[in-house]
Amino acid sequence: MAIMKKIGVLTSGGDSPGMNAAVRAVVRASVYYDRKPYGIKEGYNGLIQNYINPVNARSVKNIIHRGGTVLKTARSMEFKTKEGRQKAFENLQAAGIDGLVVIGGDGSFTGANIFEQEFGIPCVGIPGTIDNDIYGTDYTIGFDTAVNTVVDAVDMIRNTASSHNRLFFIEVMGRDAGHIAVNAGIAGGAEDILVPEQDLGVDRLIKSLKRSRKAGKTSSLVIVSEGDQTGGAYKLAEDVKSKLPEYEIKVSVLGHIQRGGNPTYFDRVLASRMGVHAVEALLAGTSNVMIGIKNQELVQVGLDVAIKQNPDINRNLLRIAEIVSI
Ligand code: F6P
Repeated sequence: MAIMKKIGVLTSGGDSPGMNAAVRAVVRASVYYDRKPYGIKEGYNGLIQNYINPVNARSVKNIIHRGGTVLKTARSMEFKTKEGRQKAFENLQAAGIDGLVVIGGDGSFTGANIFEQEFGIPCVGIPGTIDNDIYGTDYTIGFDTAVNTVVDAVDMIRNTASSHNRLFFIEVMGRDAGHIAVNAGIAGGAEDILVPEQDLGVDRLIKSLKRSRKAGKTSSLVIVSEGDQTGGAYKLAEDVKSKLPEYEIKVSVLGHIQRGGNPTYFDRVLASRMGVHAVEALLAGTSNVMIGIKNQELVQVGLDVAIKQNPDINRNLLRIAEIVSI
């Protein structure tokens, strides 16, 4: 096995708080092990456009606490083509880079998996997405921060909802997954939580709202995942209004604030651990894996496995939510 001398790192897909801490860890672990780190800007587009630059331990100073990604990110259409990946390979070869750390989600790992198979460049993935929807890891980098951001927002909305006796539908991110919704819903004391993983229908929600009113609740917060099967918060609000015209209903879509902000301690530590481990995996000759965390311990999961399956929502959390919201 040839000695790996130069390691590239990129961030890809939607940004998430803690990505910078992961970049920092990859760069510093590379330097620690006497290897040369390279920062690749704008995800896979940067590989194709040759935005590949040598970095050092000081290049990543003062970023551990910052949201977003200093490397910038992109969802690259060109990298989905063979020609795009060929260009990327040629640029990597010209720079002499012999290992790649890809920080991103599902789509990014699909790209890394194909790229390694086609061109033999060893790739290791680090899960970075606020959605927590990657199979093989209990947590993705950015999820904890995003949930805390949502809980802060829900707490604030609760103030005004209860002052006006209103029913609020609060839409949170999660195109295909309800992890943010269910965790923020429980922590924020939501009346109901709607997630993409199960379609309980509007009628059940109406019943639950009526029951709550009878039980003495004067205001309610309902958390809705953007990917919920009933069609999102605005549609849901309309449907409920038509059946409960006496309710004063408001909608709040939290949107991209959920992707920003300083990462929590949890995301910074997770990112640091995963970043160091990714470099150590590459140096040990392991590749085509994602670094995950299971029961507090870091694990390696084949990229092909990570991208093939979707982790289910924690059904027990949904049950807890139902019990504590009566
Ligand atoms: O990062 C994943 C995610 O947050 C999804 O929940 C959401 O649907 C999507 O990103 C939106 O991303 P963008 O606005 O960048 O397309």
